[in-house]
Amino acid sequence: MDIFEAIKKDHDIQRDLCDQLTETSGETEKRKVIWQELKKELKVHAEAEERFFYTDLIHHDQTQEDARHGMAEHHEMDELVEKLEETEMSSPSWLGYAKDLRDKVYHHLKDEEEDFFVVAKKVLDKSKQEKLETAYRKYMSDENCGIKAVAH
Ligand SMILES: [Fe+2]
Ligand SMILES: [Fe+2]
Repeated sequence: MDIFEAIKKDHDIQRDLCDQLTETSGETEKRKVIWQELKKELKVHAEAEERFFYTDLIHHDQTQEDARHGMAEHHEMDELVEKLEETEMSSPSWLGYAKDLRDKVYHHLKDEEEDFFVVAKKVLDKSKQEKLETAYRKYMSDENCGIKAVAH
């Protein structure tokens, strides 16, 4: 497996959690559990991605702009997560913000998969792609996140 396949698999987890979250209502146990899980997946994934993927790509002319754009979007997602944390889970606006976050996450992952990855594949050679995957995967599993963590 290379870094692109590994990230794509973890993106699928995030999309699934976003869908599940926006189907919940009120301050239920289910909403709380999914929210905790999504929050952690987003946080650890962005950290791992910035450390083992973006860092390399920010040094190349062809990928610098996409890398900067992606990191700015990580920041925007952090802000939405914060907004949700500050809002009463039982209030109607909570679901509205959750939908905003879902849309933002979907947009960001699509950007990465359809634009950024295409150029990044040309910049990183195959052995580098595999090395980055190992480091990325280790970081994710140490934090109990990503594909291996969600076996259910
Ligand atoms: Fe990202
Ligand atoms: Fe990502």
